This record gives sequence, structure tokens and C-alpha cells, in this order.
Amino acid sequence: MRVIILGSAAGGGVPQWNCGCGNCQDARLSGTGRTQSSVALSADGARWVLLNASPDLRAQIASRPELWPRGARGTPISAVVCTDGEIDHTLGLVLLREATARFPVYAPAGVVGLLDREWPVLRVLSAYAGVEPRTLPEGQAIPLADGAGRELGVTCTAVSVARRAPRYAREASAATYDVALRLADQRTGATLAYIPTAGAVDDAVRSVARGADLLLFDGTFWSDGELRAAGVDAPTAREMGHVPIGGPGGSIELLPRLGARRTVLVHINNTNPILSRSSSERAQVEGSGIEVADDGMEVEL
Ligand code: MLT
Ligand code: MN
Ligand code: ZN
Repeated sequence: MRVIILGSAAGGGVPQWNCGCGNCQDARLSGTGRTQSSVALSADGARWVLLNASPDLRAQIASRPELWPRGARGTPISAVVCTDGEIDHTLGLVLLREATARFPVYAPAGVVGLLDREWPVLRVLSAYAGVEPRTLPEGQAIPLADGAGRELGVTCTAVSVARRAPRYAREASAATYDVALRLADQRTGATLAYIPTAGAVDDAVRSVARGADLLLFDGTFWSDGELRAAGVDAPTAREMGHVPIGGPGGSIELLPRLGARRTVLVHINNTNPILSRSSSERAQVEGSGIEVADDGMEVEL
């Protein structure tokens, strides 16, 4: 299974258009940056699945020959799986509107409901080629398939994680809004645990991550009060549903116990000090054997 991190940043990216923090200023001045959270994976190297569809999807596809069209019209992107209904993980669906056939989009039940009603991507795209929503069952491995129903050689198990509904959601519902994914290559058995957003390292996270060949985990914030410290009137990391990396009960303390072969932080917010390669926080992450993702990072499992 091939895994490509298309975008390693959280919502807003780096630099974020209206953020003057040190990381965003550095990114502007050095002409480097990070695009928003998305991963591409493939079992056969020919047909690809996107894990989340970011607002930067157009540039991400343009940057990877694996995702370029074959022929006059067409795409090797065969399906999308959304782990949540947040804008940074779903806006890219709108950018796929030029598709020539209904696009399969797997998502948890609560997210399919959101995309149908409160953030009506399904209705808007129905005027184009359209999206075929496929609800991810809880805790059950299903084979992913393309629009024609051909299996892609990857099974996907979704387990709900402790997180609130997106900010725009007004409907009170008990449905699942956020999942951790365990993806397995049906031929080789290689496994990817994909958990870009998690409010805690709890039983759900443990069950998905245990013994995975690669764990991609929520690296949004270093500390609980990070956004406030950056001068933004915002909830804490834990209130937003992101377990901080540092401090007691932080992810660098808990992740190494999950037994994943390799652990890489993704969905990194622009305020996070680990983005600076010379920071002590970055050294602490790397000292615990955990890696920090970069855009374009590729792993063969
Ligand atoms: C999150 O990951 O917490 C959300 O994407 C934040 C947001 O942009 O509202
Ligand atoms: Mn996000
Ligand atoms: Zn910033």
C-alpha cells in the first residue's frame, strides 16, 4: 500500500491568510508552506483513494503525477473517505465538480447527514456529476470500491472518536461526526491507522492504532491553551477535540504505547511550535520517536 501525505496542515493551512504568527510569517518569507489535511493511498499504485478532501485539493492533485488524469478526461482518484464533516476535510468535494460520473464518498452517518442538509454539498453537486454518499458502518471492515463497484484492494474500518459536531452544525443528533480509520491492504495485510482528529487517546483510538504499520495522528496543537496564547479568542485544544501533543496526558506520552510501527503527526495547526525545526517542542517529539509530517511525504507499507 502506498500512502502520500498530500497536506499536513490543519484548517487554514500554513500560512493562514489572516494569521500573523511566527510560523505563518516564516512560511511567507521563505516561500514554503503546508496545505490542508489530506492523504492519498493506493493498493495497486494505479487507483487512489483520498482520505479527506481539502480546500487545497486542486493544487495537491496538480503536484502529484500519480493523481493526474489518464486520457482526455478521467482520474485515478476512485473514491474519497471523509473522517469528519469539517470545512477543511470536505470543501475539496466541491472542487471535484468537473467529474464525469457520480463520485463515491464514504463518510460516517452524521457526516452524510450534514453534507445532505446543513452544508449541502450533496445537493449542490447533484447539479454536476454528483456524489454517491456511502455510509461507513461502525467498527466493521468494508471493502472500498470505485464508482462502478469495483473493489480497490483496501478494507476500511471506521470507529467513532470523541469529538463534537462541526461549528456550523445546528441539528442536535446522536449520529457519528468523526471517525478514526483503519485501512488494510487486502493482499499484503499492511495497515494504516488514520486519525487526523482525536479529542483523546482512548479505547477507540487504541483499537484502531494498535500494531498498525503506520499511524497518522492528530498533531493540531502542542498545548491546550495554544490558540489563546497566540492572541486568538478561541476554545482550548481539548474543547475543540484535539488532544495536545505536549504536557501530562499529551500524545507524545501516550502514542508510543500503542505499538504502531511508525507514528507521524498530521493536521498540524499553524500556531504549533513543532513546525519550527529548531524548536525544543520539535526536539521533544522527535526524541520520543514520533515524526512530523511534511507535504508530499510518502510511505510504502
Ligand atoms: C478542527 O479540526 O477542529 C476544525 O477543522 C476546526 C475548524 O476549522 O473549525
Ligand atoms: Mn480540522
Ligand atoms: Zn499562523
